[in-house]
Amino acid sequence: MRGGEKPKIEIHPLAHGELKDASALHERELRHEFLTRFGPGFLARYYKAFIESPYATALVARVPEVSGGERRLDGVLIGTFDTGAHYAYLVRDHGWTLTVYTVLQCLRRPKLAWDLLRTRLVRYARGVYRSLRYAVKSEKRESSQKTPERVGFLAYVATASDRRGLGIGKALVEAYAEQARMAGLDRLELVTLPDERGAGSFYTNMNWTYGGERVSRSGERYSLYRLSL
Ligand SMILES: CC(C)(COP(=O)(O)OP(=O)(O)OC[C@H]1O[C@@H](n2cnc3c(N)ncnc32)[C@H](O)[C@@H]1OP(=O)(O)O)[C@@H](O)C(=O)NCCC(=O)NCCS
Repeated sequence: MRGGEKPKIEIHPLAHGELKDASALHERELRHEFLTRFGPGFLARYYKAFIESPYATALVARVPEVSGGERRLDGVLIGTFDTGAHYAYLVRDHGWTLTVYTVLQCLRRPKLAWDLLRTRLVRYARGVYRSLRYAVKSEKRESSQKTPERVGFLAYVATASDRRGLGIGKALVEAYAEQARMAGLDRLELVTLPDERGAGSFYTNMNWTYGGERVSRSGERYSLYRLSL
């Protein structure tokens, strides 16, 4: 690779055999995310749901030129094409396993149990309820005349810290946007933390537009970004 030239980035769908590596990468690079606290088993199952869901995608990036013979994941992204349908699927097909991992982690780590109870349990329970009701609601939606906007949600993207600045994050986001475009979506959305832990300008560099601040029910502030497709 000559000076200043970016290496070739290979993007492909996350495979089942790479789940352990993907969850390890998420754990290392997205430490501040609450979900990360549920541990590698939970994360691997969470990512598995994105691989298997008909309403979502999971992509990984490799830079063989830099890694040489070493088989490693340099970046990972998960996102939805239909957020309601994806989480309804996730709750139905992976919900029990994710619950078991959550309970086991909470038993091992009472601080996590307390934080979950205090800041998120009601929100998560509402989310599960909404997901269980999703099928009923979508039947009603189908019978109405209006075509709703189709919006996907970029859940997570992360690049290994020793591979940052090579264009991996950008390549992953662009590959996801292309898949979403091909699937006929109108728009993508994401939230990121508004401080230095977030990556707002990374997205505005790629033509995402700032859509204002949101406060979650647990009181955290997030910045919303949108990309028209
Ligand atoms: C955000 C992240 C995915 C970027 O990955 P990356 O592979 O280093 O990004 P790229 O090399 O593709 O960078 C693309 C451009 O964005 C810029 N950029 C990268 N990270 C940035 C950040 N955190 N803030 C602002 N700009 C950023 C780069 O300088 C580059 O600009 P250029 O095209 O002018 O050279 C990476 O920093 C990361 O994994 N962070 C931790 C996890 C995270 O915050 N994820 C996002 C929220 S879910």
